[in-house]
Amino acid sequence: MATTTVVTNPLREGMRLRKTPDPCAVTIFGASGDLTARKLVPALFSLDREGMLPAAFAVIGCAKTPYNNEKFRQVMAEALKKYSDVPADEASVADFVKRFYYLTDNFSDIKAYSQLTNLLNKLDEESGTKGNRLFYNATPPSQFPVIVRHLESAGLAKPKRPGKSWTRIVIEKPFGRDLESARQLNAVVLSVFSEDQVYRIDHYLGKETVQNLLVLRFANGIFEPIWNRRYIDHVEITVAEDIGIEGRGGYYEEAGLLRDMIQNHVMSVLSLVAMEPPASFEAAQVRDEKAKVLRAIRPFDLDRLSEYAVRGQYQQGWVRGESVPAYRSEPKVSPASTTETYTALKFSVDNWRWAGVPFYVRSGKRLAKHISEIVIEFRRVPHMVFGKTWRDSVEPNIMAVRIQPNEGISVKFNAKFPATTMQIRPVKMEFRYADSFGVETPGAYETLLLDCMLGDQTLFTREDAVEMAWELLTPVLERWQQDRAGGLAFYEAGSWGPAEADALLARDARHWHRL
Ligand code: BG6
Repeated sequence: MATTTVVTNPLREGMRLRKTPDPCAVTIFGASGDLTARKLVPALFSLDREGMLPAAFAVIGCAKTPYNNEKFRQVMAEALKKYSDVPADEASVADFVKRFYYLTDNFSDIKAYSQLTNLLNKLDEESGTKGNRLFYNATPPSQFPVIVRHLESAGLAKPKRPGKSWTRIVIEKPFGRDLESARQLNAVVLSVFSEDQVYRIDHYLGKETVQNLLVLRFANGIFEPIWNRRYIDHVEITVAEDIGIEGRGGYYEEAGLLRDMIQNHVMSVLSLVAMEPPASFEAAQVRDEKAKVLRAIRPFDLDRLSEYAVRGQYQQGWVRGESVPAYRSEPKVSPASTTETYTALKFSVDNWRWAGVPFYVRSGKRLAKHISEIVIEFRRVPHMVFGKTWRDSVEPNIMAVRIQPNEGISVKFNAKFPATTMQIRPVKMEFRYADSFGVETPGAYETLLLDCMLGDQTLFTREDAVEMAWELLTPVLERWQQDRAGGLAFYEAGSWGPAEADALLARDARHWHRL
């Protein structure tokens, strides 16, 4: 996270302000796409409304779609009205998009970069952006390498005024589609930029609750001593969506759930749950600890893969009272597709802290609910003093960290039911962000874009972590590819996934917690 300054006004004691970034220009490749309209521009707008953008600031949209400045401003203003989390009144929107520019060209062609260079230089002169440049790659992944190379050839990869200005690049997911392609992409990117210029984005790391996991663990004395194999029975991570593939059939057929959600988002969350305490909350140290955890995860035994991995695909069912089609009937999806829309995995982290504690993770489309939650189940008491009746019926303690929606943390423990006889019942202690702080949680892209402009890489994925996640998961993908439909489990849309995922835990005499 970026450096913060403690406010001296005693009335605001305890509140912390973040620095405002240096003047800069943000160039977005793929600017006419969905991500720009839905996430990037609304996030920049929220930052602007909070006074977190520098006074000298510009956005340059780059794409083939034939817009001009005026049209781009108009499209972005409409997007803000639709997607902004903060009030988007006419005047503030108009004022904001005044700083937007657009270049229509084919950015796979080096020729396009001379007009980009000219515009960037002009903005430095006329708008005071001072040579600070953030390039945001929001194009389809196939274009990442070519854009990176052209930025180099055009002389845009190095800081314009060495030591006095900065140049950074943001790379959207998916970062590769397997270990080999991720390595190749890293090699290209790092032949042009240095690692400290590269921001591989995983928007889950920008989510408040995901970051709060670190505060929960490392800013409290009571949890960390019990955060290990002696006290924890197992960990469950669920990232469930009730939406389907939202018209992205072409992309999804190529990707599948493991690439789309597990390799990045779920692995990031897992590494924050399992990592050792870093010496300080600085990028290098946090990222070192995350990498160590990934390195400690046991590779899957491919001969017994079905004992560790479940892949599923949704069939016709009901979501929010409406009939929804099977994955195979979605547009641009093969009627015989074996692409997974659900994955459940059992990981083992082979180190002293976690030996013998399974980490079960699951994620899927068209599940019963939109909910992401981490469940920590603690071991049962070693001896039940309240007699045999209660020995097996008293529930273990649970800590649940809700990533979304209704962000918060709850702890379940047992209490005596008020009665003249001994009766034990589970109760919950709850913390909800919305109730406790009464402020809106910033969106993930807001946090992350600000961090990019401030030059803070803590919440971005480093080269080694990306490759390690692929190293673990690529053999699974390859085996699934070989098996084709063999082992593909179907589930009804609107359910909690295939029965095989329940069997994964049942084999260990456990079950998924109801969410
Ligand atoms: C994206 C995936 O990275 O994350 C989508 O490509 C998915 O398929 C989305 O729907 C989920 O993000 P969130 O923030 O809505 O949980």
